[in-house]
Amino acid sequence: MKSLYDAGQAGGKNLLLLHGTGGDETSLVDVARFLDGSCRILSFKGEVNEDGMNRFFKRNGLNQFDYESLEEETDKLYEAIKQESEDKGVDLADWVLVGYSNGANIAAHLLLERDTPLRYGIFFHPMSLEVHTKTSDLSDKRVWMSYGGVNDPIVSEQAFDGLERAFVARNANVVVDRTEFGHQLSMDELKSARAFLYQL
Ligand code: MLT
Repeated sequence: MKSLYDAGQAGGKNLLLLHGTGGDETSLVDVARFLDGSCRILSFKGEVNEDGMNRFFKRNGLNQFDYESLEEETDKLYEAIKQESEDKGVDLADWVLVGYSNGANIAAHLLLERDTPLRYGIFFHPMSLEVHTKTSDLSDKRVWMSYGGVNDPIVSEQAFDGLERAFVARNANVVVDRTEFGHQLSMDELKSARAFLYQL
């Protein structure tokens, strides 16, 4: 998979970036540097092309997910993460997955549906994909996730709450930030995510 890498500076957090629909590997770089100016960055570009927009898995319309593609692309992404982590000498457990929208959705799916040492997530405007095939304990995971409120035309409260419940039910440590600015990122939530990251 195409990726962007920046080793950052000593003591920086290890941020693994996954963009939203229509973004690319550069989309979240400024967000990452806001979260931690010294961070190491590994950022992937989704390989699915939807009318010229990059995504991490296929869909058949808004929020109508192609579950075969979801599983295939999750495996591919995880393989790419493992390979890059080995090449760069970073432990999987040290990455913080930072995803927005579609990127947050595949990141959350990876934590929920694959047995993985990856354990930290910052998910901007994610939603439940309604795939719950695993019951293993996730008490090693720490996840921060934000909701855009009733003004978010894409993520419903029900879909957001469903994702929160999926993590909580398996003992993950979840911090939720509820905003009212819709699907776009707000400065308040970036600050909240930064405070969470600081504690990891
Ligand atoms: C998006 O547009 O990115 C969606 O709402 C989330 C997704 O399709 O995964």
